[in-house]
Amino acid sequence: MCGIIGICSLKDAVSTPPALIIRRGLEKLEYRGYDSVGIASIHDNKIIIRKGKGKIREVNAHKRLDGVPGLVVIGHTRWATHGRPSDENAHPHIDCKGEIAVVHNGIIQNYYQLKQYLEERGHRFRSETDTEVIPHLIEEGLKRSRCFFEAFREAVRKLKGSYALGVITVFEPDKIFFARKDSPLIVGLGNGYNFIASDIPAFLDYTRKIVVVHDHEIGYISPHEVYFEDINGRSISISNRIRLIDWTPEMAAKAGYPHFMLKEIHEQPIALANTLRGLGVEVEKAAEILLNAERVFLAAAGTSYHACLVADYLMSTVASKPTIPFISSEYKKYRNCVTERDVLLAVSQSGETIDTLMAVRNFKNRGATIISLSNVIESAIPRESDLTIYTRAGPEIGVAATKTFTTQVLSLAAITVNLAFLNGSIDRMERKELLDQLSYAPKIAEKSIMVTEGIIREFSRELSNKNNAYYLGRGIGVPVAMEGALKLKEIAYIHAEAYPAGESKHGPIALVEQGFPVLFIIMDDNNYTHILGNIEEMSARDALTIGIVPEGDKEASEKLTMVIKVPRSPWITSPITYTPPLQLLAYYVCIERGYDPDKPRNLAKTVTVE
Ligand code: F6R
Repeated sequence: MCGIIGICSLKDAVSTPPALIIRRGLEKLEYRGYDSVGIASIHDNKIIIRKGKGKIREVNAHKRLDGVPGLVVIGHTRWATHGRPSDENAHPHIDCKGEIAVVHNGIIQNYYQLKQYLEERGHRFRSETDTEVIPHLIEEGLKRSRCFFEAFREAVRKLKGSYALGVITVFEPDKIFFARKDSPLIVGLGNGYNFIASDIPAFLDYTRKIVVVHDHEIGYISPHEVYFEDINGRSISISNRIRLIDWTPEMAAKAGYPHFMLKEIHEQPIALANTLRGLGVEVEKAAEILLNAERVFLAAAGTSYHACLVADYLMSTVASKPTIPFISSEYKKYRNCVTERDVLLAVSQSGETIDTLMAVRNFKNRGATIISLSNVIESAIPRESDLTIYTRAGPEIGVAATKTFTTQVLSLAAITVNLAFLNGSIDRMERKELLDQLSYAPKIAEKSIMVTEGIIREFSRELSNKNNAYYLGRGIGVPVAMEGALKLKEIAYIHAEAYPAGESKHGPIALVEQGFPVLFIIMDDNNYTHILGNIEEMSARDALTIGIVPEGDKEASEKLTMVIKVPRSPWITSPITYTPPLQLLAYYVCIERGYDPDKPRNLAKTVTVE
């Protein structure tokens, strides 16, 4: 989704030209996905704009984005929603006279009505975007008000939909005005300069002091001032909302790896160790809430949904508490049946996925208790939850979720073990044993990555020529298979589908012919003998069978074309053992095919439009 960043600086407060800081900040936001880019600054009481379709490097080479003069600069990466990717539709957008420039992330749902209203009053539009109504609305408001901030506030009040806004104007040349509803926005506090941005890594080289902007807040930054108020004009003190971020710029950079994705796969041991350390009293509180829940719903999208499916297996088997997992965009299905006795556990690494946020709001309105699991402190979903548990995976820049998945699984497993103890499914000794097993998760992930990476690199060559693949598992291996297939599909662009292995006979096997790749998740559990049968079925049709098997396995390995051995590990940690090799496989196949794993086409890191 779109990314925004802005800086207001005193002349000598930063040694790097502000436009260069903004261009570099935009590069840190590339992971969000985008198709065009633009920058605007104020110089000599004029607004200067440079923008265009394409990657930052390309547009910068033609238009010198980072050459714009001025100490107040805003920048934007656009992910097209209204209007195709083009130079005209790239942000910033301006009013008729070119005195106001706006960058926006989100969707203005009533833009059509606003556009008609403005066109009737003589405003001329230059783009097909919803965003362009905003500078014109402010311009229109300035006909009645001499105060720019008042006109800005009035304009924001007229907007329906979602927005994070950054606005500059020649009328207040040392300020950036901002507003937020349902799209992420952070203020970064510096010495002689201040920032706004969609995400922290954008300005992390310059400050670690942040304030998260909440929904319905508006305000402005200048080089030495930060002002917040609510939409009704009441000013808001932010002194107790300032947070110090402990991510260093190095943590957000690639640390020597060719891609963020590979770095983040390798960071799983440390991310798991940090998450384990951070699992405190909230986990016990969550277990208590779940204990008293009539029904437990689990909502998430994409990879986070797969973590929910793992949790569903764990809760049913370890804690005898079946749950209702669902893909968050389908929340309307439960609109009429949720009650205050229900609990929604919402899982979102970004904490900003709009579908999951909407599910949270819907369940909350029906009186349900909301627990969330997120990787981003004070993001929207945690803020709207009754209780939040944080994974401590650190910033995840690669678009494909990797370390956040395994840390989600670990946190959900810890909640399950606590719940199982509270409801009497396990006794104190069993609880201790399972928690001990979870404490080995960092070591298990480390070993799994270490022993599989070489062989996976080799296998990736053969797989890179394929157009399709099946991923089959049984039991807790099913969500693991689903996660593996999603990774291959999203970064290597190979059509991959996952099924419970038992289901493969009910249709999918029709596609299998010589050389068709079928990847099996083979665990040493009560599904082992059944999965042997599924391997036979696929081999009988000359499929290319690849199996991830536990170390020391013989029977399955003899039947498979290619074998990837992972360390033996307890059942409860098996998704943490088996998922990293699948992430590596997707990564190396993607590299073989010549794609960029960090910026897969058409995808955005944080999906903030419904
Ligand atoms: C896949 C991926 C996406 C996200 C999904 C949810 O690799 O990254 O499928 O998992 O968009 O995002 P969060 O967890 O931020 O809600």
